[in-house]
Amino acid sequence: MNTTPSDFSRRDFLKASSVAAGTLAFPSVSSAQHRADRIKIGLVGCGGRGSGAANNALEADPGVQLVAMADVFPERLEASLNGLSAKYAGTPGRIDVPKERQFTGLDAYKQMMQTDIDVVLLAAPPGFRPLHFAAAVEAGKHIFCEKPMGTDAVHARSLLESARQAKQKKLSVVAGFCWRYSNRRSLFEKIHGGAIGEVRSLYHTYLTGPVKPMPAAETRREGMSDVEWQLRNWMNFVWLSGDGLVEQACHSVDKMLWAMKDVAPLRCTANGGRQVPNPGGNIFDHVTVHYEWANGVRGIMAQRQIGGCYNDNSDYVTGEKGIATTKGGLSISGETPWKYDGPNFEMYVHEHKELYASVRSGAAHNDGEWMCQSTLVAIMGRMAAATGQEVTWEHMLKSQDNIFPSTLRMDMDLPVAPMGSPGKTKLV
Ligand SMILES: NC(=O)c1ccc[n+]([C@@H]2O[C@H](COP(=O)([O-])OP(=O)(O)OC[C@H]3O[C@@H](n4cnc5c(N)ncnc54)[C@H](O)[C@@H]3O)[C@@H](O)[C@H]2O)c1
Repeated sequence: MNTTPSDFSRRDFLKASSVAAGTLAFPSVSSAQHRADRIKIGLVGCGGRGSGAANNALEADPGVQLVAMADVFPERLEASLNGLSAKYAGTPGRIDVPKERQFTGLDAYKQMMQTDIDVVLLAAPPGFRPLHFAAAVEAGKHIFCEKPMGTDAVHARSLLESARQAKQKKLSVVAGFCWRYSNRRSLFEKIHGGAIGEVRSLYHTYLTGPVKPMPAAETRREGMSDVEWQLRNWMNFVWLSGDGLVEQACHSVDKMLWAMKDVAPLRCTANGGRQVPNPGGNIFDHVTVHYEWANGVRGIMAQRQIGGCYNDNSDYVTGEKGIATTKGGLSISGETPWKYDGPNFEMYVHEHKELYASVRSGAAHNDGEWMCQSTLVAIMGRMAAATGQEVTWEHMLKSQDNIFPSTLRMDMDLPVAPMGSPGKTKLV
C-alpha cells in the first residue's frame, strides 16, 4: 500500500472515475429509469447499528427501499424488521422484506448477494467485514460498510484488495467512519488549508465506559456452542471486534489520519491492558498508542472503556500557528481564531445521502483506500499494545497477523485465544 497523500485523495478519484450512469454494473435492475426511481437495499447484520443504518438510508433518499435482510440469528432479524416496519407503516413500499428475502445463519450474506439488491449495508461484527465485502463486490453491489474493516492485518489488507476491485467495477463504497460525513469537515478542511500552520502533534481521545461487557457465564444456555456464545458477545473477542481500540476508537485513529491528510505513520508503540476483569473475553479495556510520522510529527491516541472515569471523545491538533479541536464544538485558537457556527447536519444520514447520490449519478464514490488504512493503523496500535513491541507500517503491509478462523460453523468448539500479554505475546 502506498502512503502518499495523493494516492488517498478521494477527490482525485472522483474526478478520474466519473462515468455515464448507463455503464454501471447493476446486475438485475432492468432500466436506468427504474434505477432513477428506486434503489433496492439489503442489510447484513440486523443489530443496533445495522437497523439504524437501514433507517438512515430510508431517511436519506425517498427512492430507497429495504427489500432483503440477513443475520445469523433469526430473532435479531425479526426484531429489526418489526421495528423498521412499525416506523415506516405509514409509507407503504419503503420496506418490502417477505420471508423469501429474509436470510439467517452464517451463510445468510451469500444468499442476500443472490438477490437483485443494488446496495448492501454491511453491519455484522467487524471480523466478518472482509468476507462480506468481498462477496458484495463479487456480486456487483454498491456498499455501505460500517467500521472497522477487519480485525487483523491479513484480512484488512484483503478488504483493501476487494475495495480496489470495487473501484474497477465502478461500484460505490461508503465507509461508516461517520465523522468524515459530519460538520467536522469544516474543521479538517481548515487544518488542511493551513489555518494552524504545519501540524506538529496530535492527541485524540476515546475515553468512555464499557461497551456490552461479558454476561455472567451462568447465562450461557446449556449446549450453546462456543461460536454461538462468542457471536452473541462479539465485542469481547478480538477475532470478532478487533478489541476496543479497533472496534470503537478506530473513529479517533481515523480522525488522526484525516488530520494528517491520510499519510500513514511510520511506526508506533503502545501501552495497554485490562484493569476491570471481564471473564471469558480477551480484549483490553485501555490502550494508549504513540504514533510517529516520517516528518517527525507524533500523535497520541488514548482509549479506555472503564466506568466511573473522566470521559472524553475529542481531537486536539496542534500546529505551528494554532490549535484545532473538536472539544466543546469545532474551533481553532491561535493566530487566526475560528469557531464553527454552521448547521449540525446528521452524519449518519449524510453518509447515505452521498452514497445514493453517487449511485444515481454514476460517479462511483470509493472510500476504500483510506478506510482500510485507518483500520490497519488501529490494528497496528492493538498489535503494539498486545505485544509490547514497536510496530512499523512496513510490518503492517506484510504482517501475517491472521486471527479469523479459517472455518466456522455455528456448532463448533472455538477456544478463546489468550489475552495479549506485553513482552510475551509474539508480534507476527
Ligand atoms: N459508525 C458508528 O458510529 C457505529 C456505531 C455502532 C456500531 N458500529 C459498527 O457497526 C457494526 C455492528 O455493531 P452493532 O452495535 O450494530 O452490533 P450488534 O451486536 O447490535 O449487531 C450485530 C448484528 O450482526 C449479527 N451478526 C453476527 N454475525 C453475523 C454474520 N456473520 N452475518 C450476519 N449477521 C451477523 C448479530 O446477530 C447482530 O444482530 C460493528 O462493526 C460496529 O463497530 C458503528
